Amino acid sequence: MTLRVAVLGVGLMGTYHAETLANRTSGVAVTVINDFSPERAQEVAHSTGARVVSDPLEAIAADDVDAVVIATPGPAHEKQVLACLETGKPVLCEKPLTTDAESSLAIVKAEAELGKQLIQVGFMRRYDHEYAHLRGVVESGELGAPLLLHCAHRNKATHPHFDSEMVVKDALVHEVDVTRFLFGEEITAVRILTPAPVSTSHENLRDPQFAIFETESGRMVDVEVFVNTGIAYEVRTEAVFERGSVQIGLGMGAVHKTAPGVWGGPVTADFRERFDQAYASQLQAWADQSRKAIASGNYVVNGPRAWDGYAAAVVCEAGVRALNSGERVAIELPERASIPGA
Ligand SMILES: NC(=O)c1ccc[n+]([C@@H]2O[C@H](COP(=O)([O-])OP(=O)(O)OC[C@H]3O[C@@H](n4cnc5c(N)ncnc54)[C@H](O)[C@@H]3O)[C@@H](O)[C@H]2O)c1
Repeated sequence: MTLRVAVLGVGLMGTYHAETLANRTSGVAVTVINDFSPERAQEVAHSTGARVVSDPLEAIAADDVDAVVIATPGPAHEKQVLACLETGKPVLCEKPLTTDAESSLAIVKAEAELGKQLIQVGFMRRYDHEYAHLRGVVESGELGAPLLLHCAHRNKATHPHFDSEMVVKDALVHEVDVTRFLFGEEITAVRILTPAPVSTSHENLRDPQFAIFETESGRMVDVEVFVNTGIAYEVRTEAVFERGSVQIGLGMGAVHKTAPGVWGGPVTADFRERFDQAYASQLQAWADQSRKAIASGNYVVNGPRAWDGYAAAVVCEAGVRALNSGERVAIELPERASIPGA
């Protein structure tokens, strides 16, 4: 069967997803496009062979839609994800699952009560070959137990309205998921340090920030998040094990010697270039999983689930409190097993 997909929100991320689904994902047709901006929707519908439906809930319920990709801004996600649960359609929801922990937990519970795994959250780094390799090293035990992670997350620039809390909720959230994915355990405390800001920062933006996570077994993770480097998009991770260390994200592609005294290679300009393979693999895996679920009636999500979106929301909320107080903030999650099916 061909999986007929609606894409909601075709800004930067949704356009990229719609085009990847239409041109580079097998077994999929993009049938419906929805966006607040009718012109934007029309443009992407035209390039992907879809039709425009102007109401997001009608788009989800449409007869020619089997599954949904949500790439609207975070505040729109809750209502749209709940509509996917109501219509029983698999959904890939961009991060954040919702904008606060309470509503994310309500979604975890609603899905668990339904008894069908319909929600995948767009933590696509899990599909990046290098992160998957690192997870494999952890799982194999070949270097002993992992002890520490050192992470760097650098963007070239952000919108002028990007503020200190968004550094936590929009950028650091990826390292929250990476930590949970690589270590396979929850984060139990967070601290956010704010070094002297870069001169391009403004009143509401502390940039860079330095986060420290503690995990259930007492491991620690440090993350530099620097969202206005003016240089490029760089995401690096080094895992330190009992018997060695592994670094990923070095971008060690071709080495160029382009002028006397100049030695080096390209750095990726933005997140789409750096994680292109991860986004494409995520969509292909989600489409295959959705087709299989619809055909068999057995709905299973193998990627990041609503619980992962909820856990990230809890850590980010604590991160914002840590940012504002300068203190270490302890995190308490309910036992996952206390919500059967979560
Ligand atoms: N996984 C990643 O690496 C990654 C990267 C970038 C963005 N994102 C996420 O993707 C989502 C979208 O981000 P973006 O950068 O593309 O934003 P954007 O502002 O570029 O695009 C959002 C689009 O949604 C439309 N829209 C707004 N509210 C809507 C609603 N209620 N219904 C339908 N359409 C609506 C807007 O008109 C706009 O075209 C966010 O949740 C963001 O966090 C994820």
